Amino acid sequence: MKYTRILLKLSGESLMGNKQFGIDNERLALYALQIKEISEMGVEVAVVIGGGNIFRGIQAEEGGMDRVHGDYMGMLATVINSMALQSALEKAGVETRLQSAIKMEQICEPFIRRKAVRHLEKNRVVIFGAGTGNPYFTTDTAATLRAIEIEADVVLKGTRVDGIYSADPEKDKSATKYATISFEEVYAKGLEVMDMTAFTLCKENKLPIIVFDMNKEGNLKKIMLGEQVGTLVEF
Ligand code: GTP
Repeated sequence: MKYTRILLKLSGESLMGNKQFGIDNERLALYALQIKEISEMGVEVAVVIGGGNIFRGIQAEEGGMDRVHGDYMGMLATVINSMALQSALEKAGVETRLQSAIKMEQICEPFIRRKAVRHLEKNRVVIFGAGTGNPYFTTDTAATLRAIEIEADVVLKGTRVDGIYSADPEKDKSATKYATISFEEVYAKGLEVMDMTAFTLCKENKLPIIVFDMNKEGNLKKIMLGEQVGTLVEF
């Protein structure tokens, strides 16, 4: 196996499937099955999900809401998505634990790093909800932070695009996809992989990133087996 412990970052929007809002149960089940597949192969899996399908702090701010207030609402949205994924995984027969950066003891465990690591060692999928628990940080940053804390081998950023391109492939037909790219090149070319806080955290902690299409069945498994899928950001 190429990787033994991974942190999978899913966007909230990806859970919408073809819907305009909320959660598409079919899409959710599809993700659960793919996670189950690699978990059964023995990979230790942690997951961080965004909340943009339910609430976006930045848009709330544009509408006149206090930014910090909006960010906390966004963190709660990630807990809803995390609970949905937890339910889908358990329905598929996968043991899970949900830990939240904001205490909600009636519905999940608080984030305790050492406990999270024990859960992973017992082959439970650990979902981290409520982002970092702080405003002004994205769920990409939360994913990176948790990945470093649990000493994951890699952060997998599941998106709708199948990797990092030299330009926006939807606008520029000549755009080409990178199989691998260095952190320096991403900076130099001004490419967008994650927000800068998250990206810099990865770079400084030598944590590789793989950007890949999570909607393509089997991709997650292929990555675990060392096949070239998406784009690898490395040193
Ligand atoms: P080990 O026994 O250490 O292997 O882990 P465990 O998670 O099975 O032990 P624990 O007794 O802590 O948890 C049993 C169940 O209670 C699990 O489903 C946990 O997710 C859940 N649980 C543990 N702590 C909390 C909490 O603070 N709040 C909520 N809502 N559930 C919790």
